Amino acid sequence: MSHQDQHANRVDDPDRGTRALTVVGGGVIGLTCALAAADAGWRVRVLDAGHAERASWVAGGMLGSLGEGQPGEEAALELSVESVRRWPALVKRLDEPAVVTATDSLFVATGAADAEYLRHLADFVWAHQPRTDSTLSAVTGREIRALEPALSSRLVGGYRAVGEWSVDNRLLLFALRRTAEAAGVQVVDARVESLADLRADLGPAAQLLVAAGLGSLALVSATLMRELRLHAAKGEILRLRRTRLSVPPPTHVVRARVHGRAVYLVPRADGIVVGATQYETGDFSDRTPQAGGVADLLADAIEVMPGLRTYELVEAAAGLRPCTADGLPVIARVDANTVVATGHGRNGIVLAPITAERVVDILEGEHQ
Ligand code: GLY
Repeated sequence: MSHQDQHANRVDDPDRGTRALTVVGGGVIGLTCALAAADAGWRVRVLDAGHAERASWVAGGMLGSLGEGQPGEEAALELSVESVRRWPALVKRLDEPAVVTATDSLFVATGAADAEYLRHLADFVWAHQPRTDSTLSAVTGREIRALEPALSSRLVGGYRAVGEWSVDNRLLLFALRRTAEAAGVQVVDARVESLADLRADLGPAAQLLVAAGLGSLALVSATLMRELRLHAAKGEILRLRRTRLSVPPPTHVVRARVHGRAVYLVPRADGIVVGATQYETGDFSDRTPQAGGVADLLADAIEVMPGLRTYELVEAAAGLRPCTADGLPVIARVDANTVVATGHGRNGIVLAPITAERVVDILEGEHQ
């Protein structure tokens, strides 16, 4: 029986008043946790500071367990694989099928060195294949063109991952909020500057979930004096819209190596999201897209899909991924009233369902 079924009639539960949760952060992690907690019978309020500082607003939305796998980050890959399994149930819960923009991914290379790099990565993720529901198979340049005629004839080959999805990150945010509100979650537009002030307004038994991305660092360190190490990985992303002159977007997520650089093209209903640069920045407030990052992304994406030239460039944006040293998110209780879920790095969207499951387990006392 699901949490939802178990708690469907919990309105009269005498404990209900004490099962109150306030979530700081209305991004994909905060909202997915809020929805899961509401489904588990909690009375939930989300404090949402808006899109401007939200990593999940500036995202490709790839559910890339295989595509994001890196040697040395085996535990992160395992966690992604576990979370990917939970995605179909989350999409069903949202009742918004359009949120899924592709169900398969192509990994493509522009030259021999890039192809060698992909082979190396494929060998690594292959080792995890039996545990994934996706299948990875080698494809030639000719097969790539047969699958995606809009891609360059110069691509030398790569891999196809059937079952490696993408979602529209912004549609997802709206659908999560709508579904959470329908489940009884109250979403309030509010910026939290201090957990101490917030706690003063809450009952003694109320639980707090801090899911504010990079902003979690200042909130948790200042109030709880707990060590939480996060660094910012800035990334530029572009949104391009198909025009009447353009070829349609690919049906696959396309992840390319272009002369040693990574670029991805992720389909949307009306175009393509191109991403993403990645560089460390000590500045936790710099979300301005730089010309160099935008130029590199455009050049690489056009090399992979020449027809992109006729698309309209709608948006260039930059986000700050909240990263940890070991590549694993922090999903933990930090005191009797506070749980933290942050540090998801490049993988916030893919890891949302497993994060929500773990947060609910922690709230229910099943894990500490
Ligand atoms: N998940 C892809 C990125 O962060 O760019």
